[in-house]
Amino acid sequence: MTATDTALRHELSAWCGSGGAEEFPYDGVIGRLRAVGKHFLDEELLSLLAECRALLLAADAGGAGGVRDAHAGPFLDVLLDKFDGRYDYPSYTALALLRRGAPDDRAGWEVLRRHRDRTVLLLLADLIGFERLVLDGTPHDPQGMLPDALLLNKRLRLAVRVMEPAALRALDGAVDPVAVAATPGRTPAGELADAVLRTTTAGERLLLRTSVQPVYVLHDEYLFLRVLQSFEATFAFMSATLDEAVRTLRAEQPGDAAALIAAVADVLRESLPLFSLLATMQPESFRLFRQFTEGASAIQSEGYKTFESYCSTPARARLDSSAFLSVPDVRGEVLAGRETVQGTWEDVISSGWLTEPDAAAVRAAALQLEAVHQRWKQTHYRLAVRMIGTRTGTGATEGVPYLASVISQRLFPAMEKQPAVG
Ligand code: HEM
Repeated sequence: MTATDTALRHELSAWCGSGGAEEFPYDGVIGRLRAVGKHFLDEELLSLLAECRALLLAADAGGAGGVRDAHAGPFLDVLLDKFDGRYDYPSYTALALLRRGAPDDRAGWEVLRRHRDRTVLLLLADLIGFERLVLDGTPHDPQGMLPDALLLNKRLRLAVRVMEPAALRALDGAVDPVAVAATPGRTPAGELADAVLRTTTAGERLLLRTSVQPVYVLHDEYLFLRVLQSFEATFAFMSATLDEAVRTLRAEQPGDAAALIAAVADVLRESLPLFSLLATMQPESFRLFRQFTEGASAIQSEGYKTFESYCSTPARARLDSSAFLSVPDVRGEVLAGRETVQGTWEDVISSGWLTEPDAAAVRAAALQLEAVHQRWKQTHYRLAVRMIGTRTGTGATEGVPYLASVISQRLFPAMEKQPAVG
């Protein structure tokens, strides 16, 4: 046991002893985690952390008051996922932490988009900060297999590409709209990241500090996690906004529904360069660390499957395949009869109140979303070919052949076939 380990154990024991009344000793625990990887944390430390969590739960159940750190419980759940035997994609990506403080799903699409923009800006500004440490010659853990400066600078430019549209909406004056329209991705990465990080609250800083929990010691896993999390923030916005579109159609406001679906398509389009950003991950790094992510795959992404199943009800074969068997809660909601954009559109057409131009506007927006989603799937497929080739997926599929098989599926099969008004 090293002197650092001993100090960390003392710090943790003191925290446990206080019943979790102080802020959790995040720095020590995260420092250790990022130095060895979650997969390699030693049993003794893990057992101590599990004891601390049990004490915390007991204190909670007993109604003990005090200035308890409410982030510590969810943080420990993410940290102990492998130890508990609950490791999966939501815990790998620390989604429970990222959801803390999110607005209610029914808060309205503008509030939800602001939250998505803010989250993506924070995640990517943090990534830029992490990569700049390498460029400055002071890398932080995880720091195995550091990329060269050329690759890192490309990474920064691609992160900026994704941030710019969000910053134009959510961060007054941080980017120049004329320059972005002329050449996207040219806003200086450091300045943009600093502009975001200057505005963070204490809660946001805690979120950023605690939400990268790599399984191994390779630098590129940080990028992988931040890209997955940025997509998850985007899927959450897409799902809630499509739900709002369904309700809007039901309330006979087709113009508004078309605008909502178009906003969803726009945000997904803006997110596509996240794949180019992730393509700067070194395939050999990925192949090494993915040995320890086995059992966690984005096929378990509830956000993605929720968004998909708000478009139209997936075919029975898909619902009964690993696509939906990997997300049982979402599957249950679909089988219980989730209302969808396509289904509602067909209903309101047959009810006769939807005018032809309105039906056409909704259909046009849906087909726009369809086209962007097709690009999403094709880009995802190409990235997977490059990163894993013929290897199997970490979500128990055969890998690339599975991704090839889902490309032909459509979000809005009936809208594609049908003319605007039947
Ligand atoms: C290194 C990059 C990536 C590789 C190699 C990769 C590979 C795969 C593979 C092989 C699958 C099939 C399920 C499995 O067995 O795991 C899959 C599914 C999936 N991936 Fe990725 N992926 C990558 C990045 C991403 C990213 C960044 C996202 C965004 C969240 C994502 C979202 C998804 C989704 C939603 C599915 C389920 C698709 C469906 O069921 O139709 N992937 N991926």
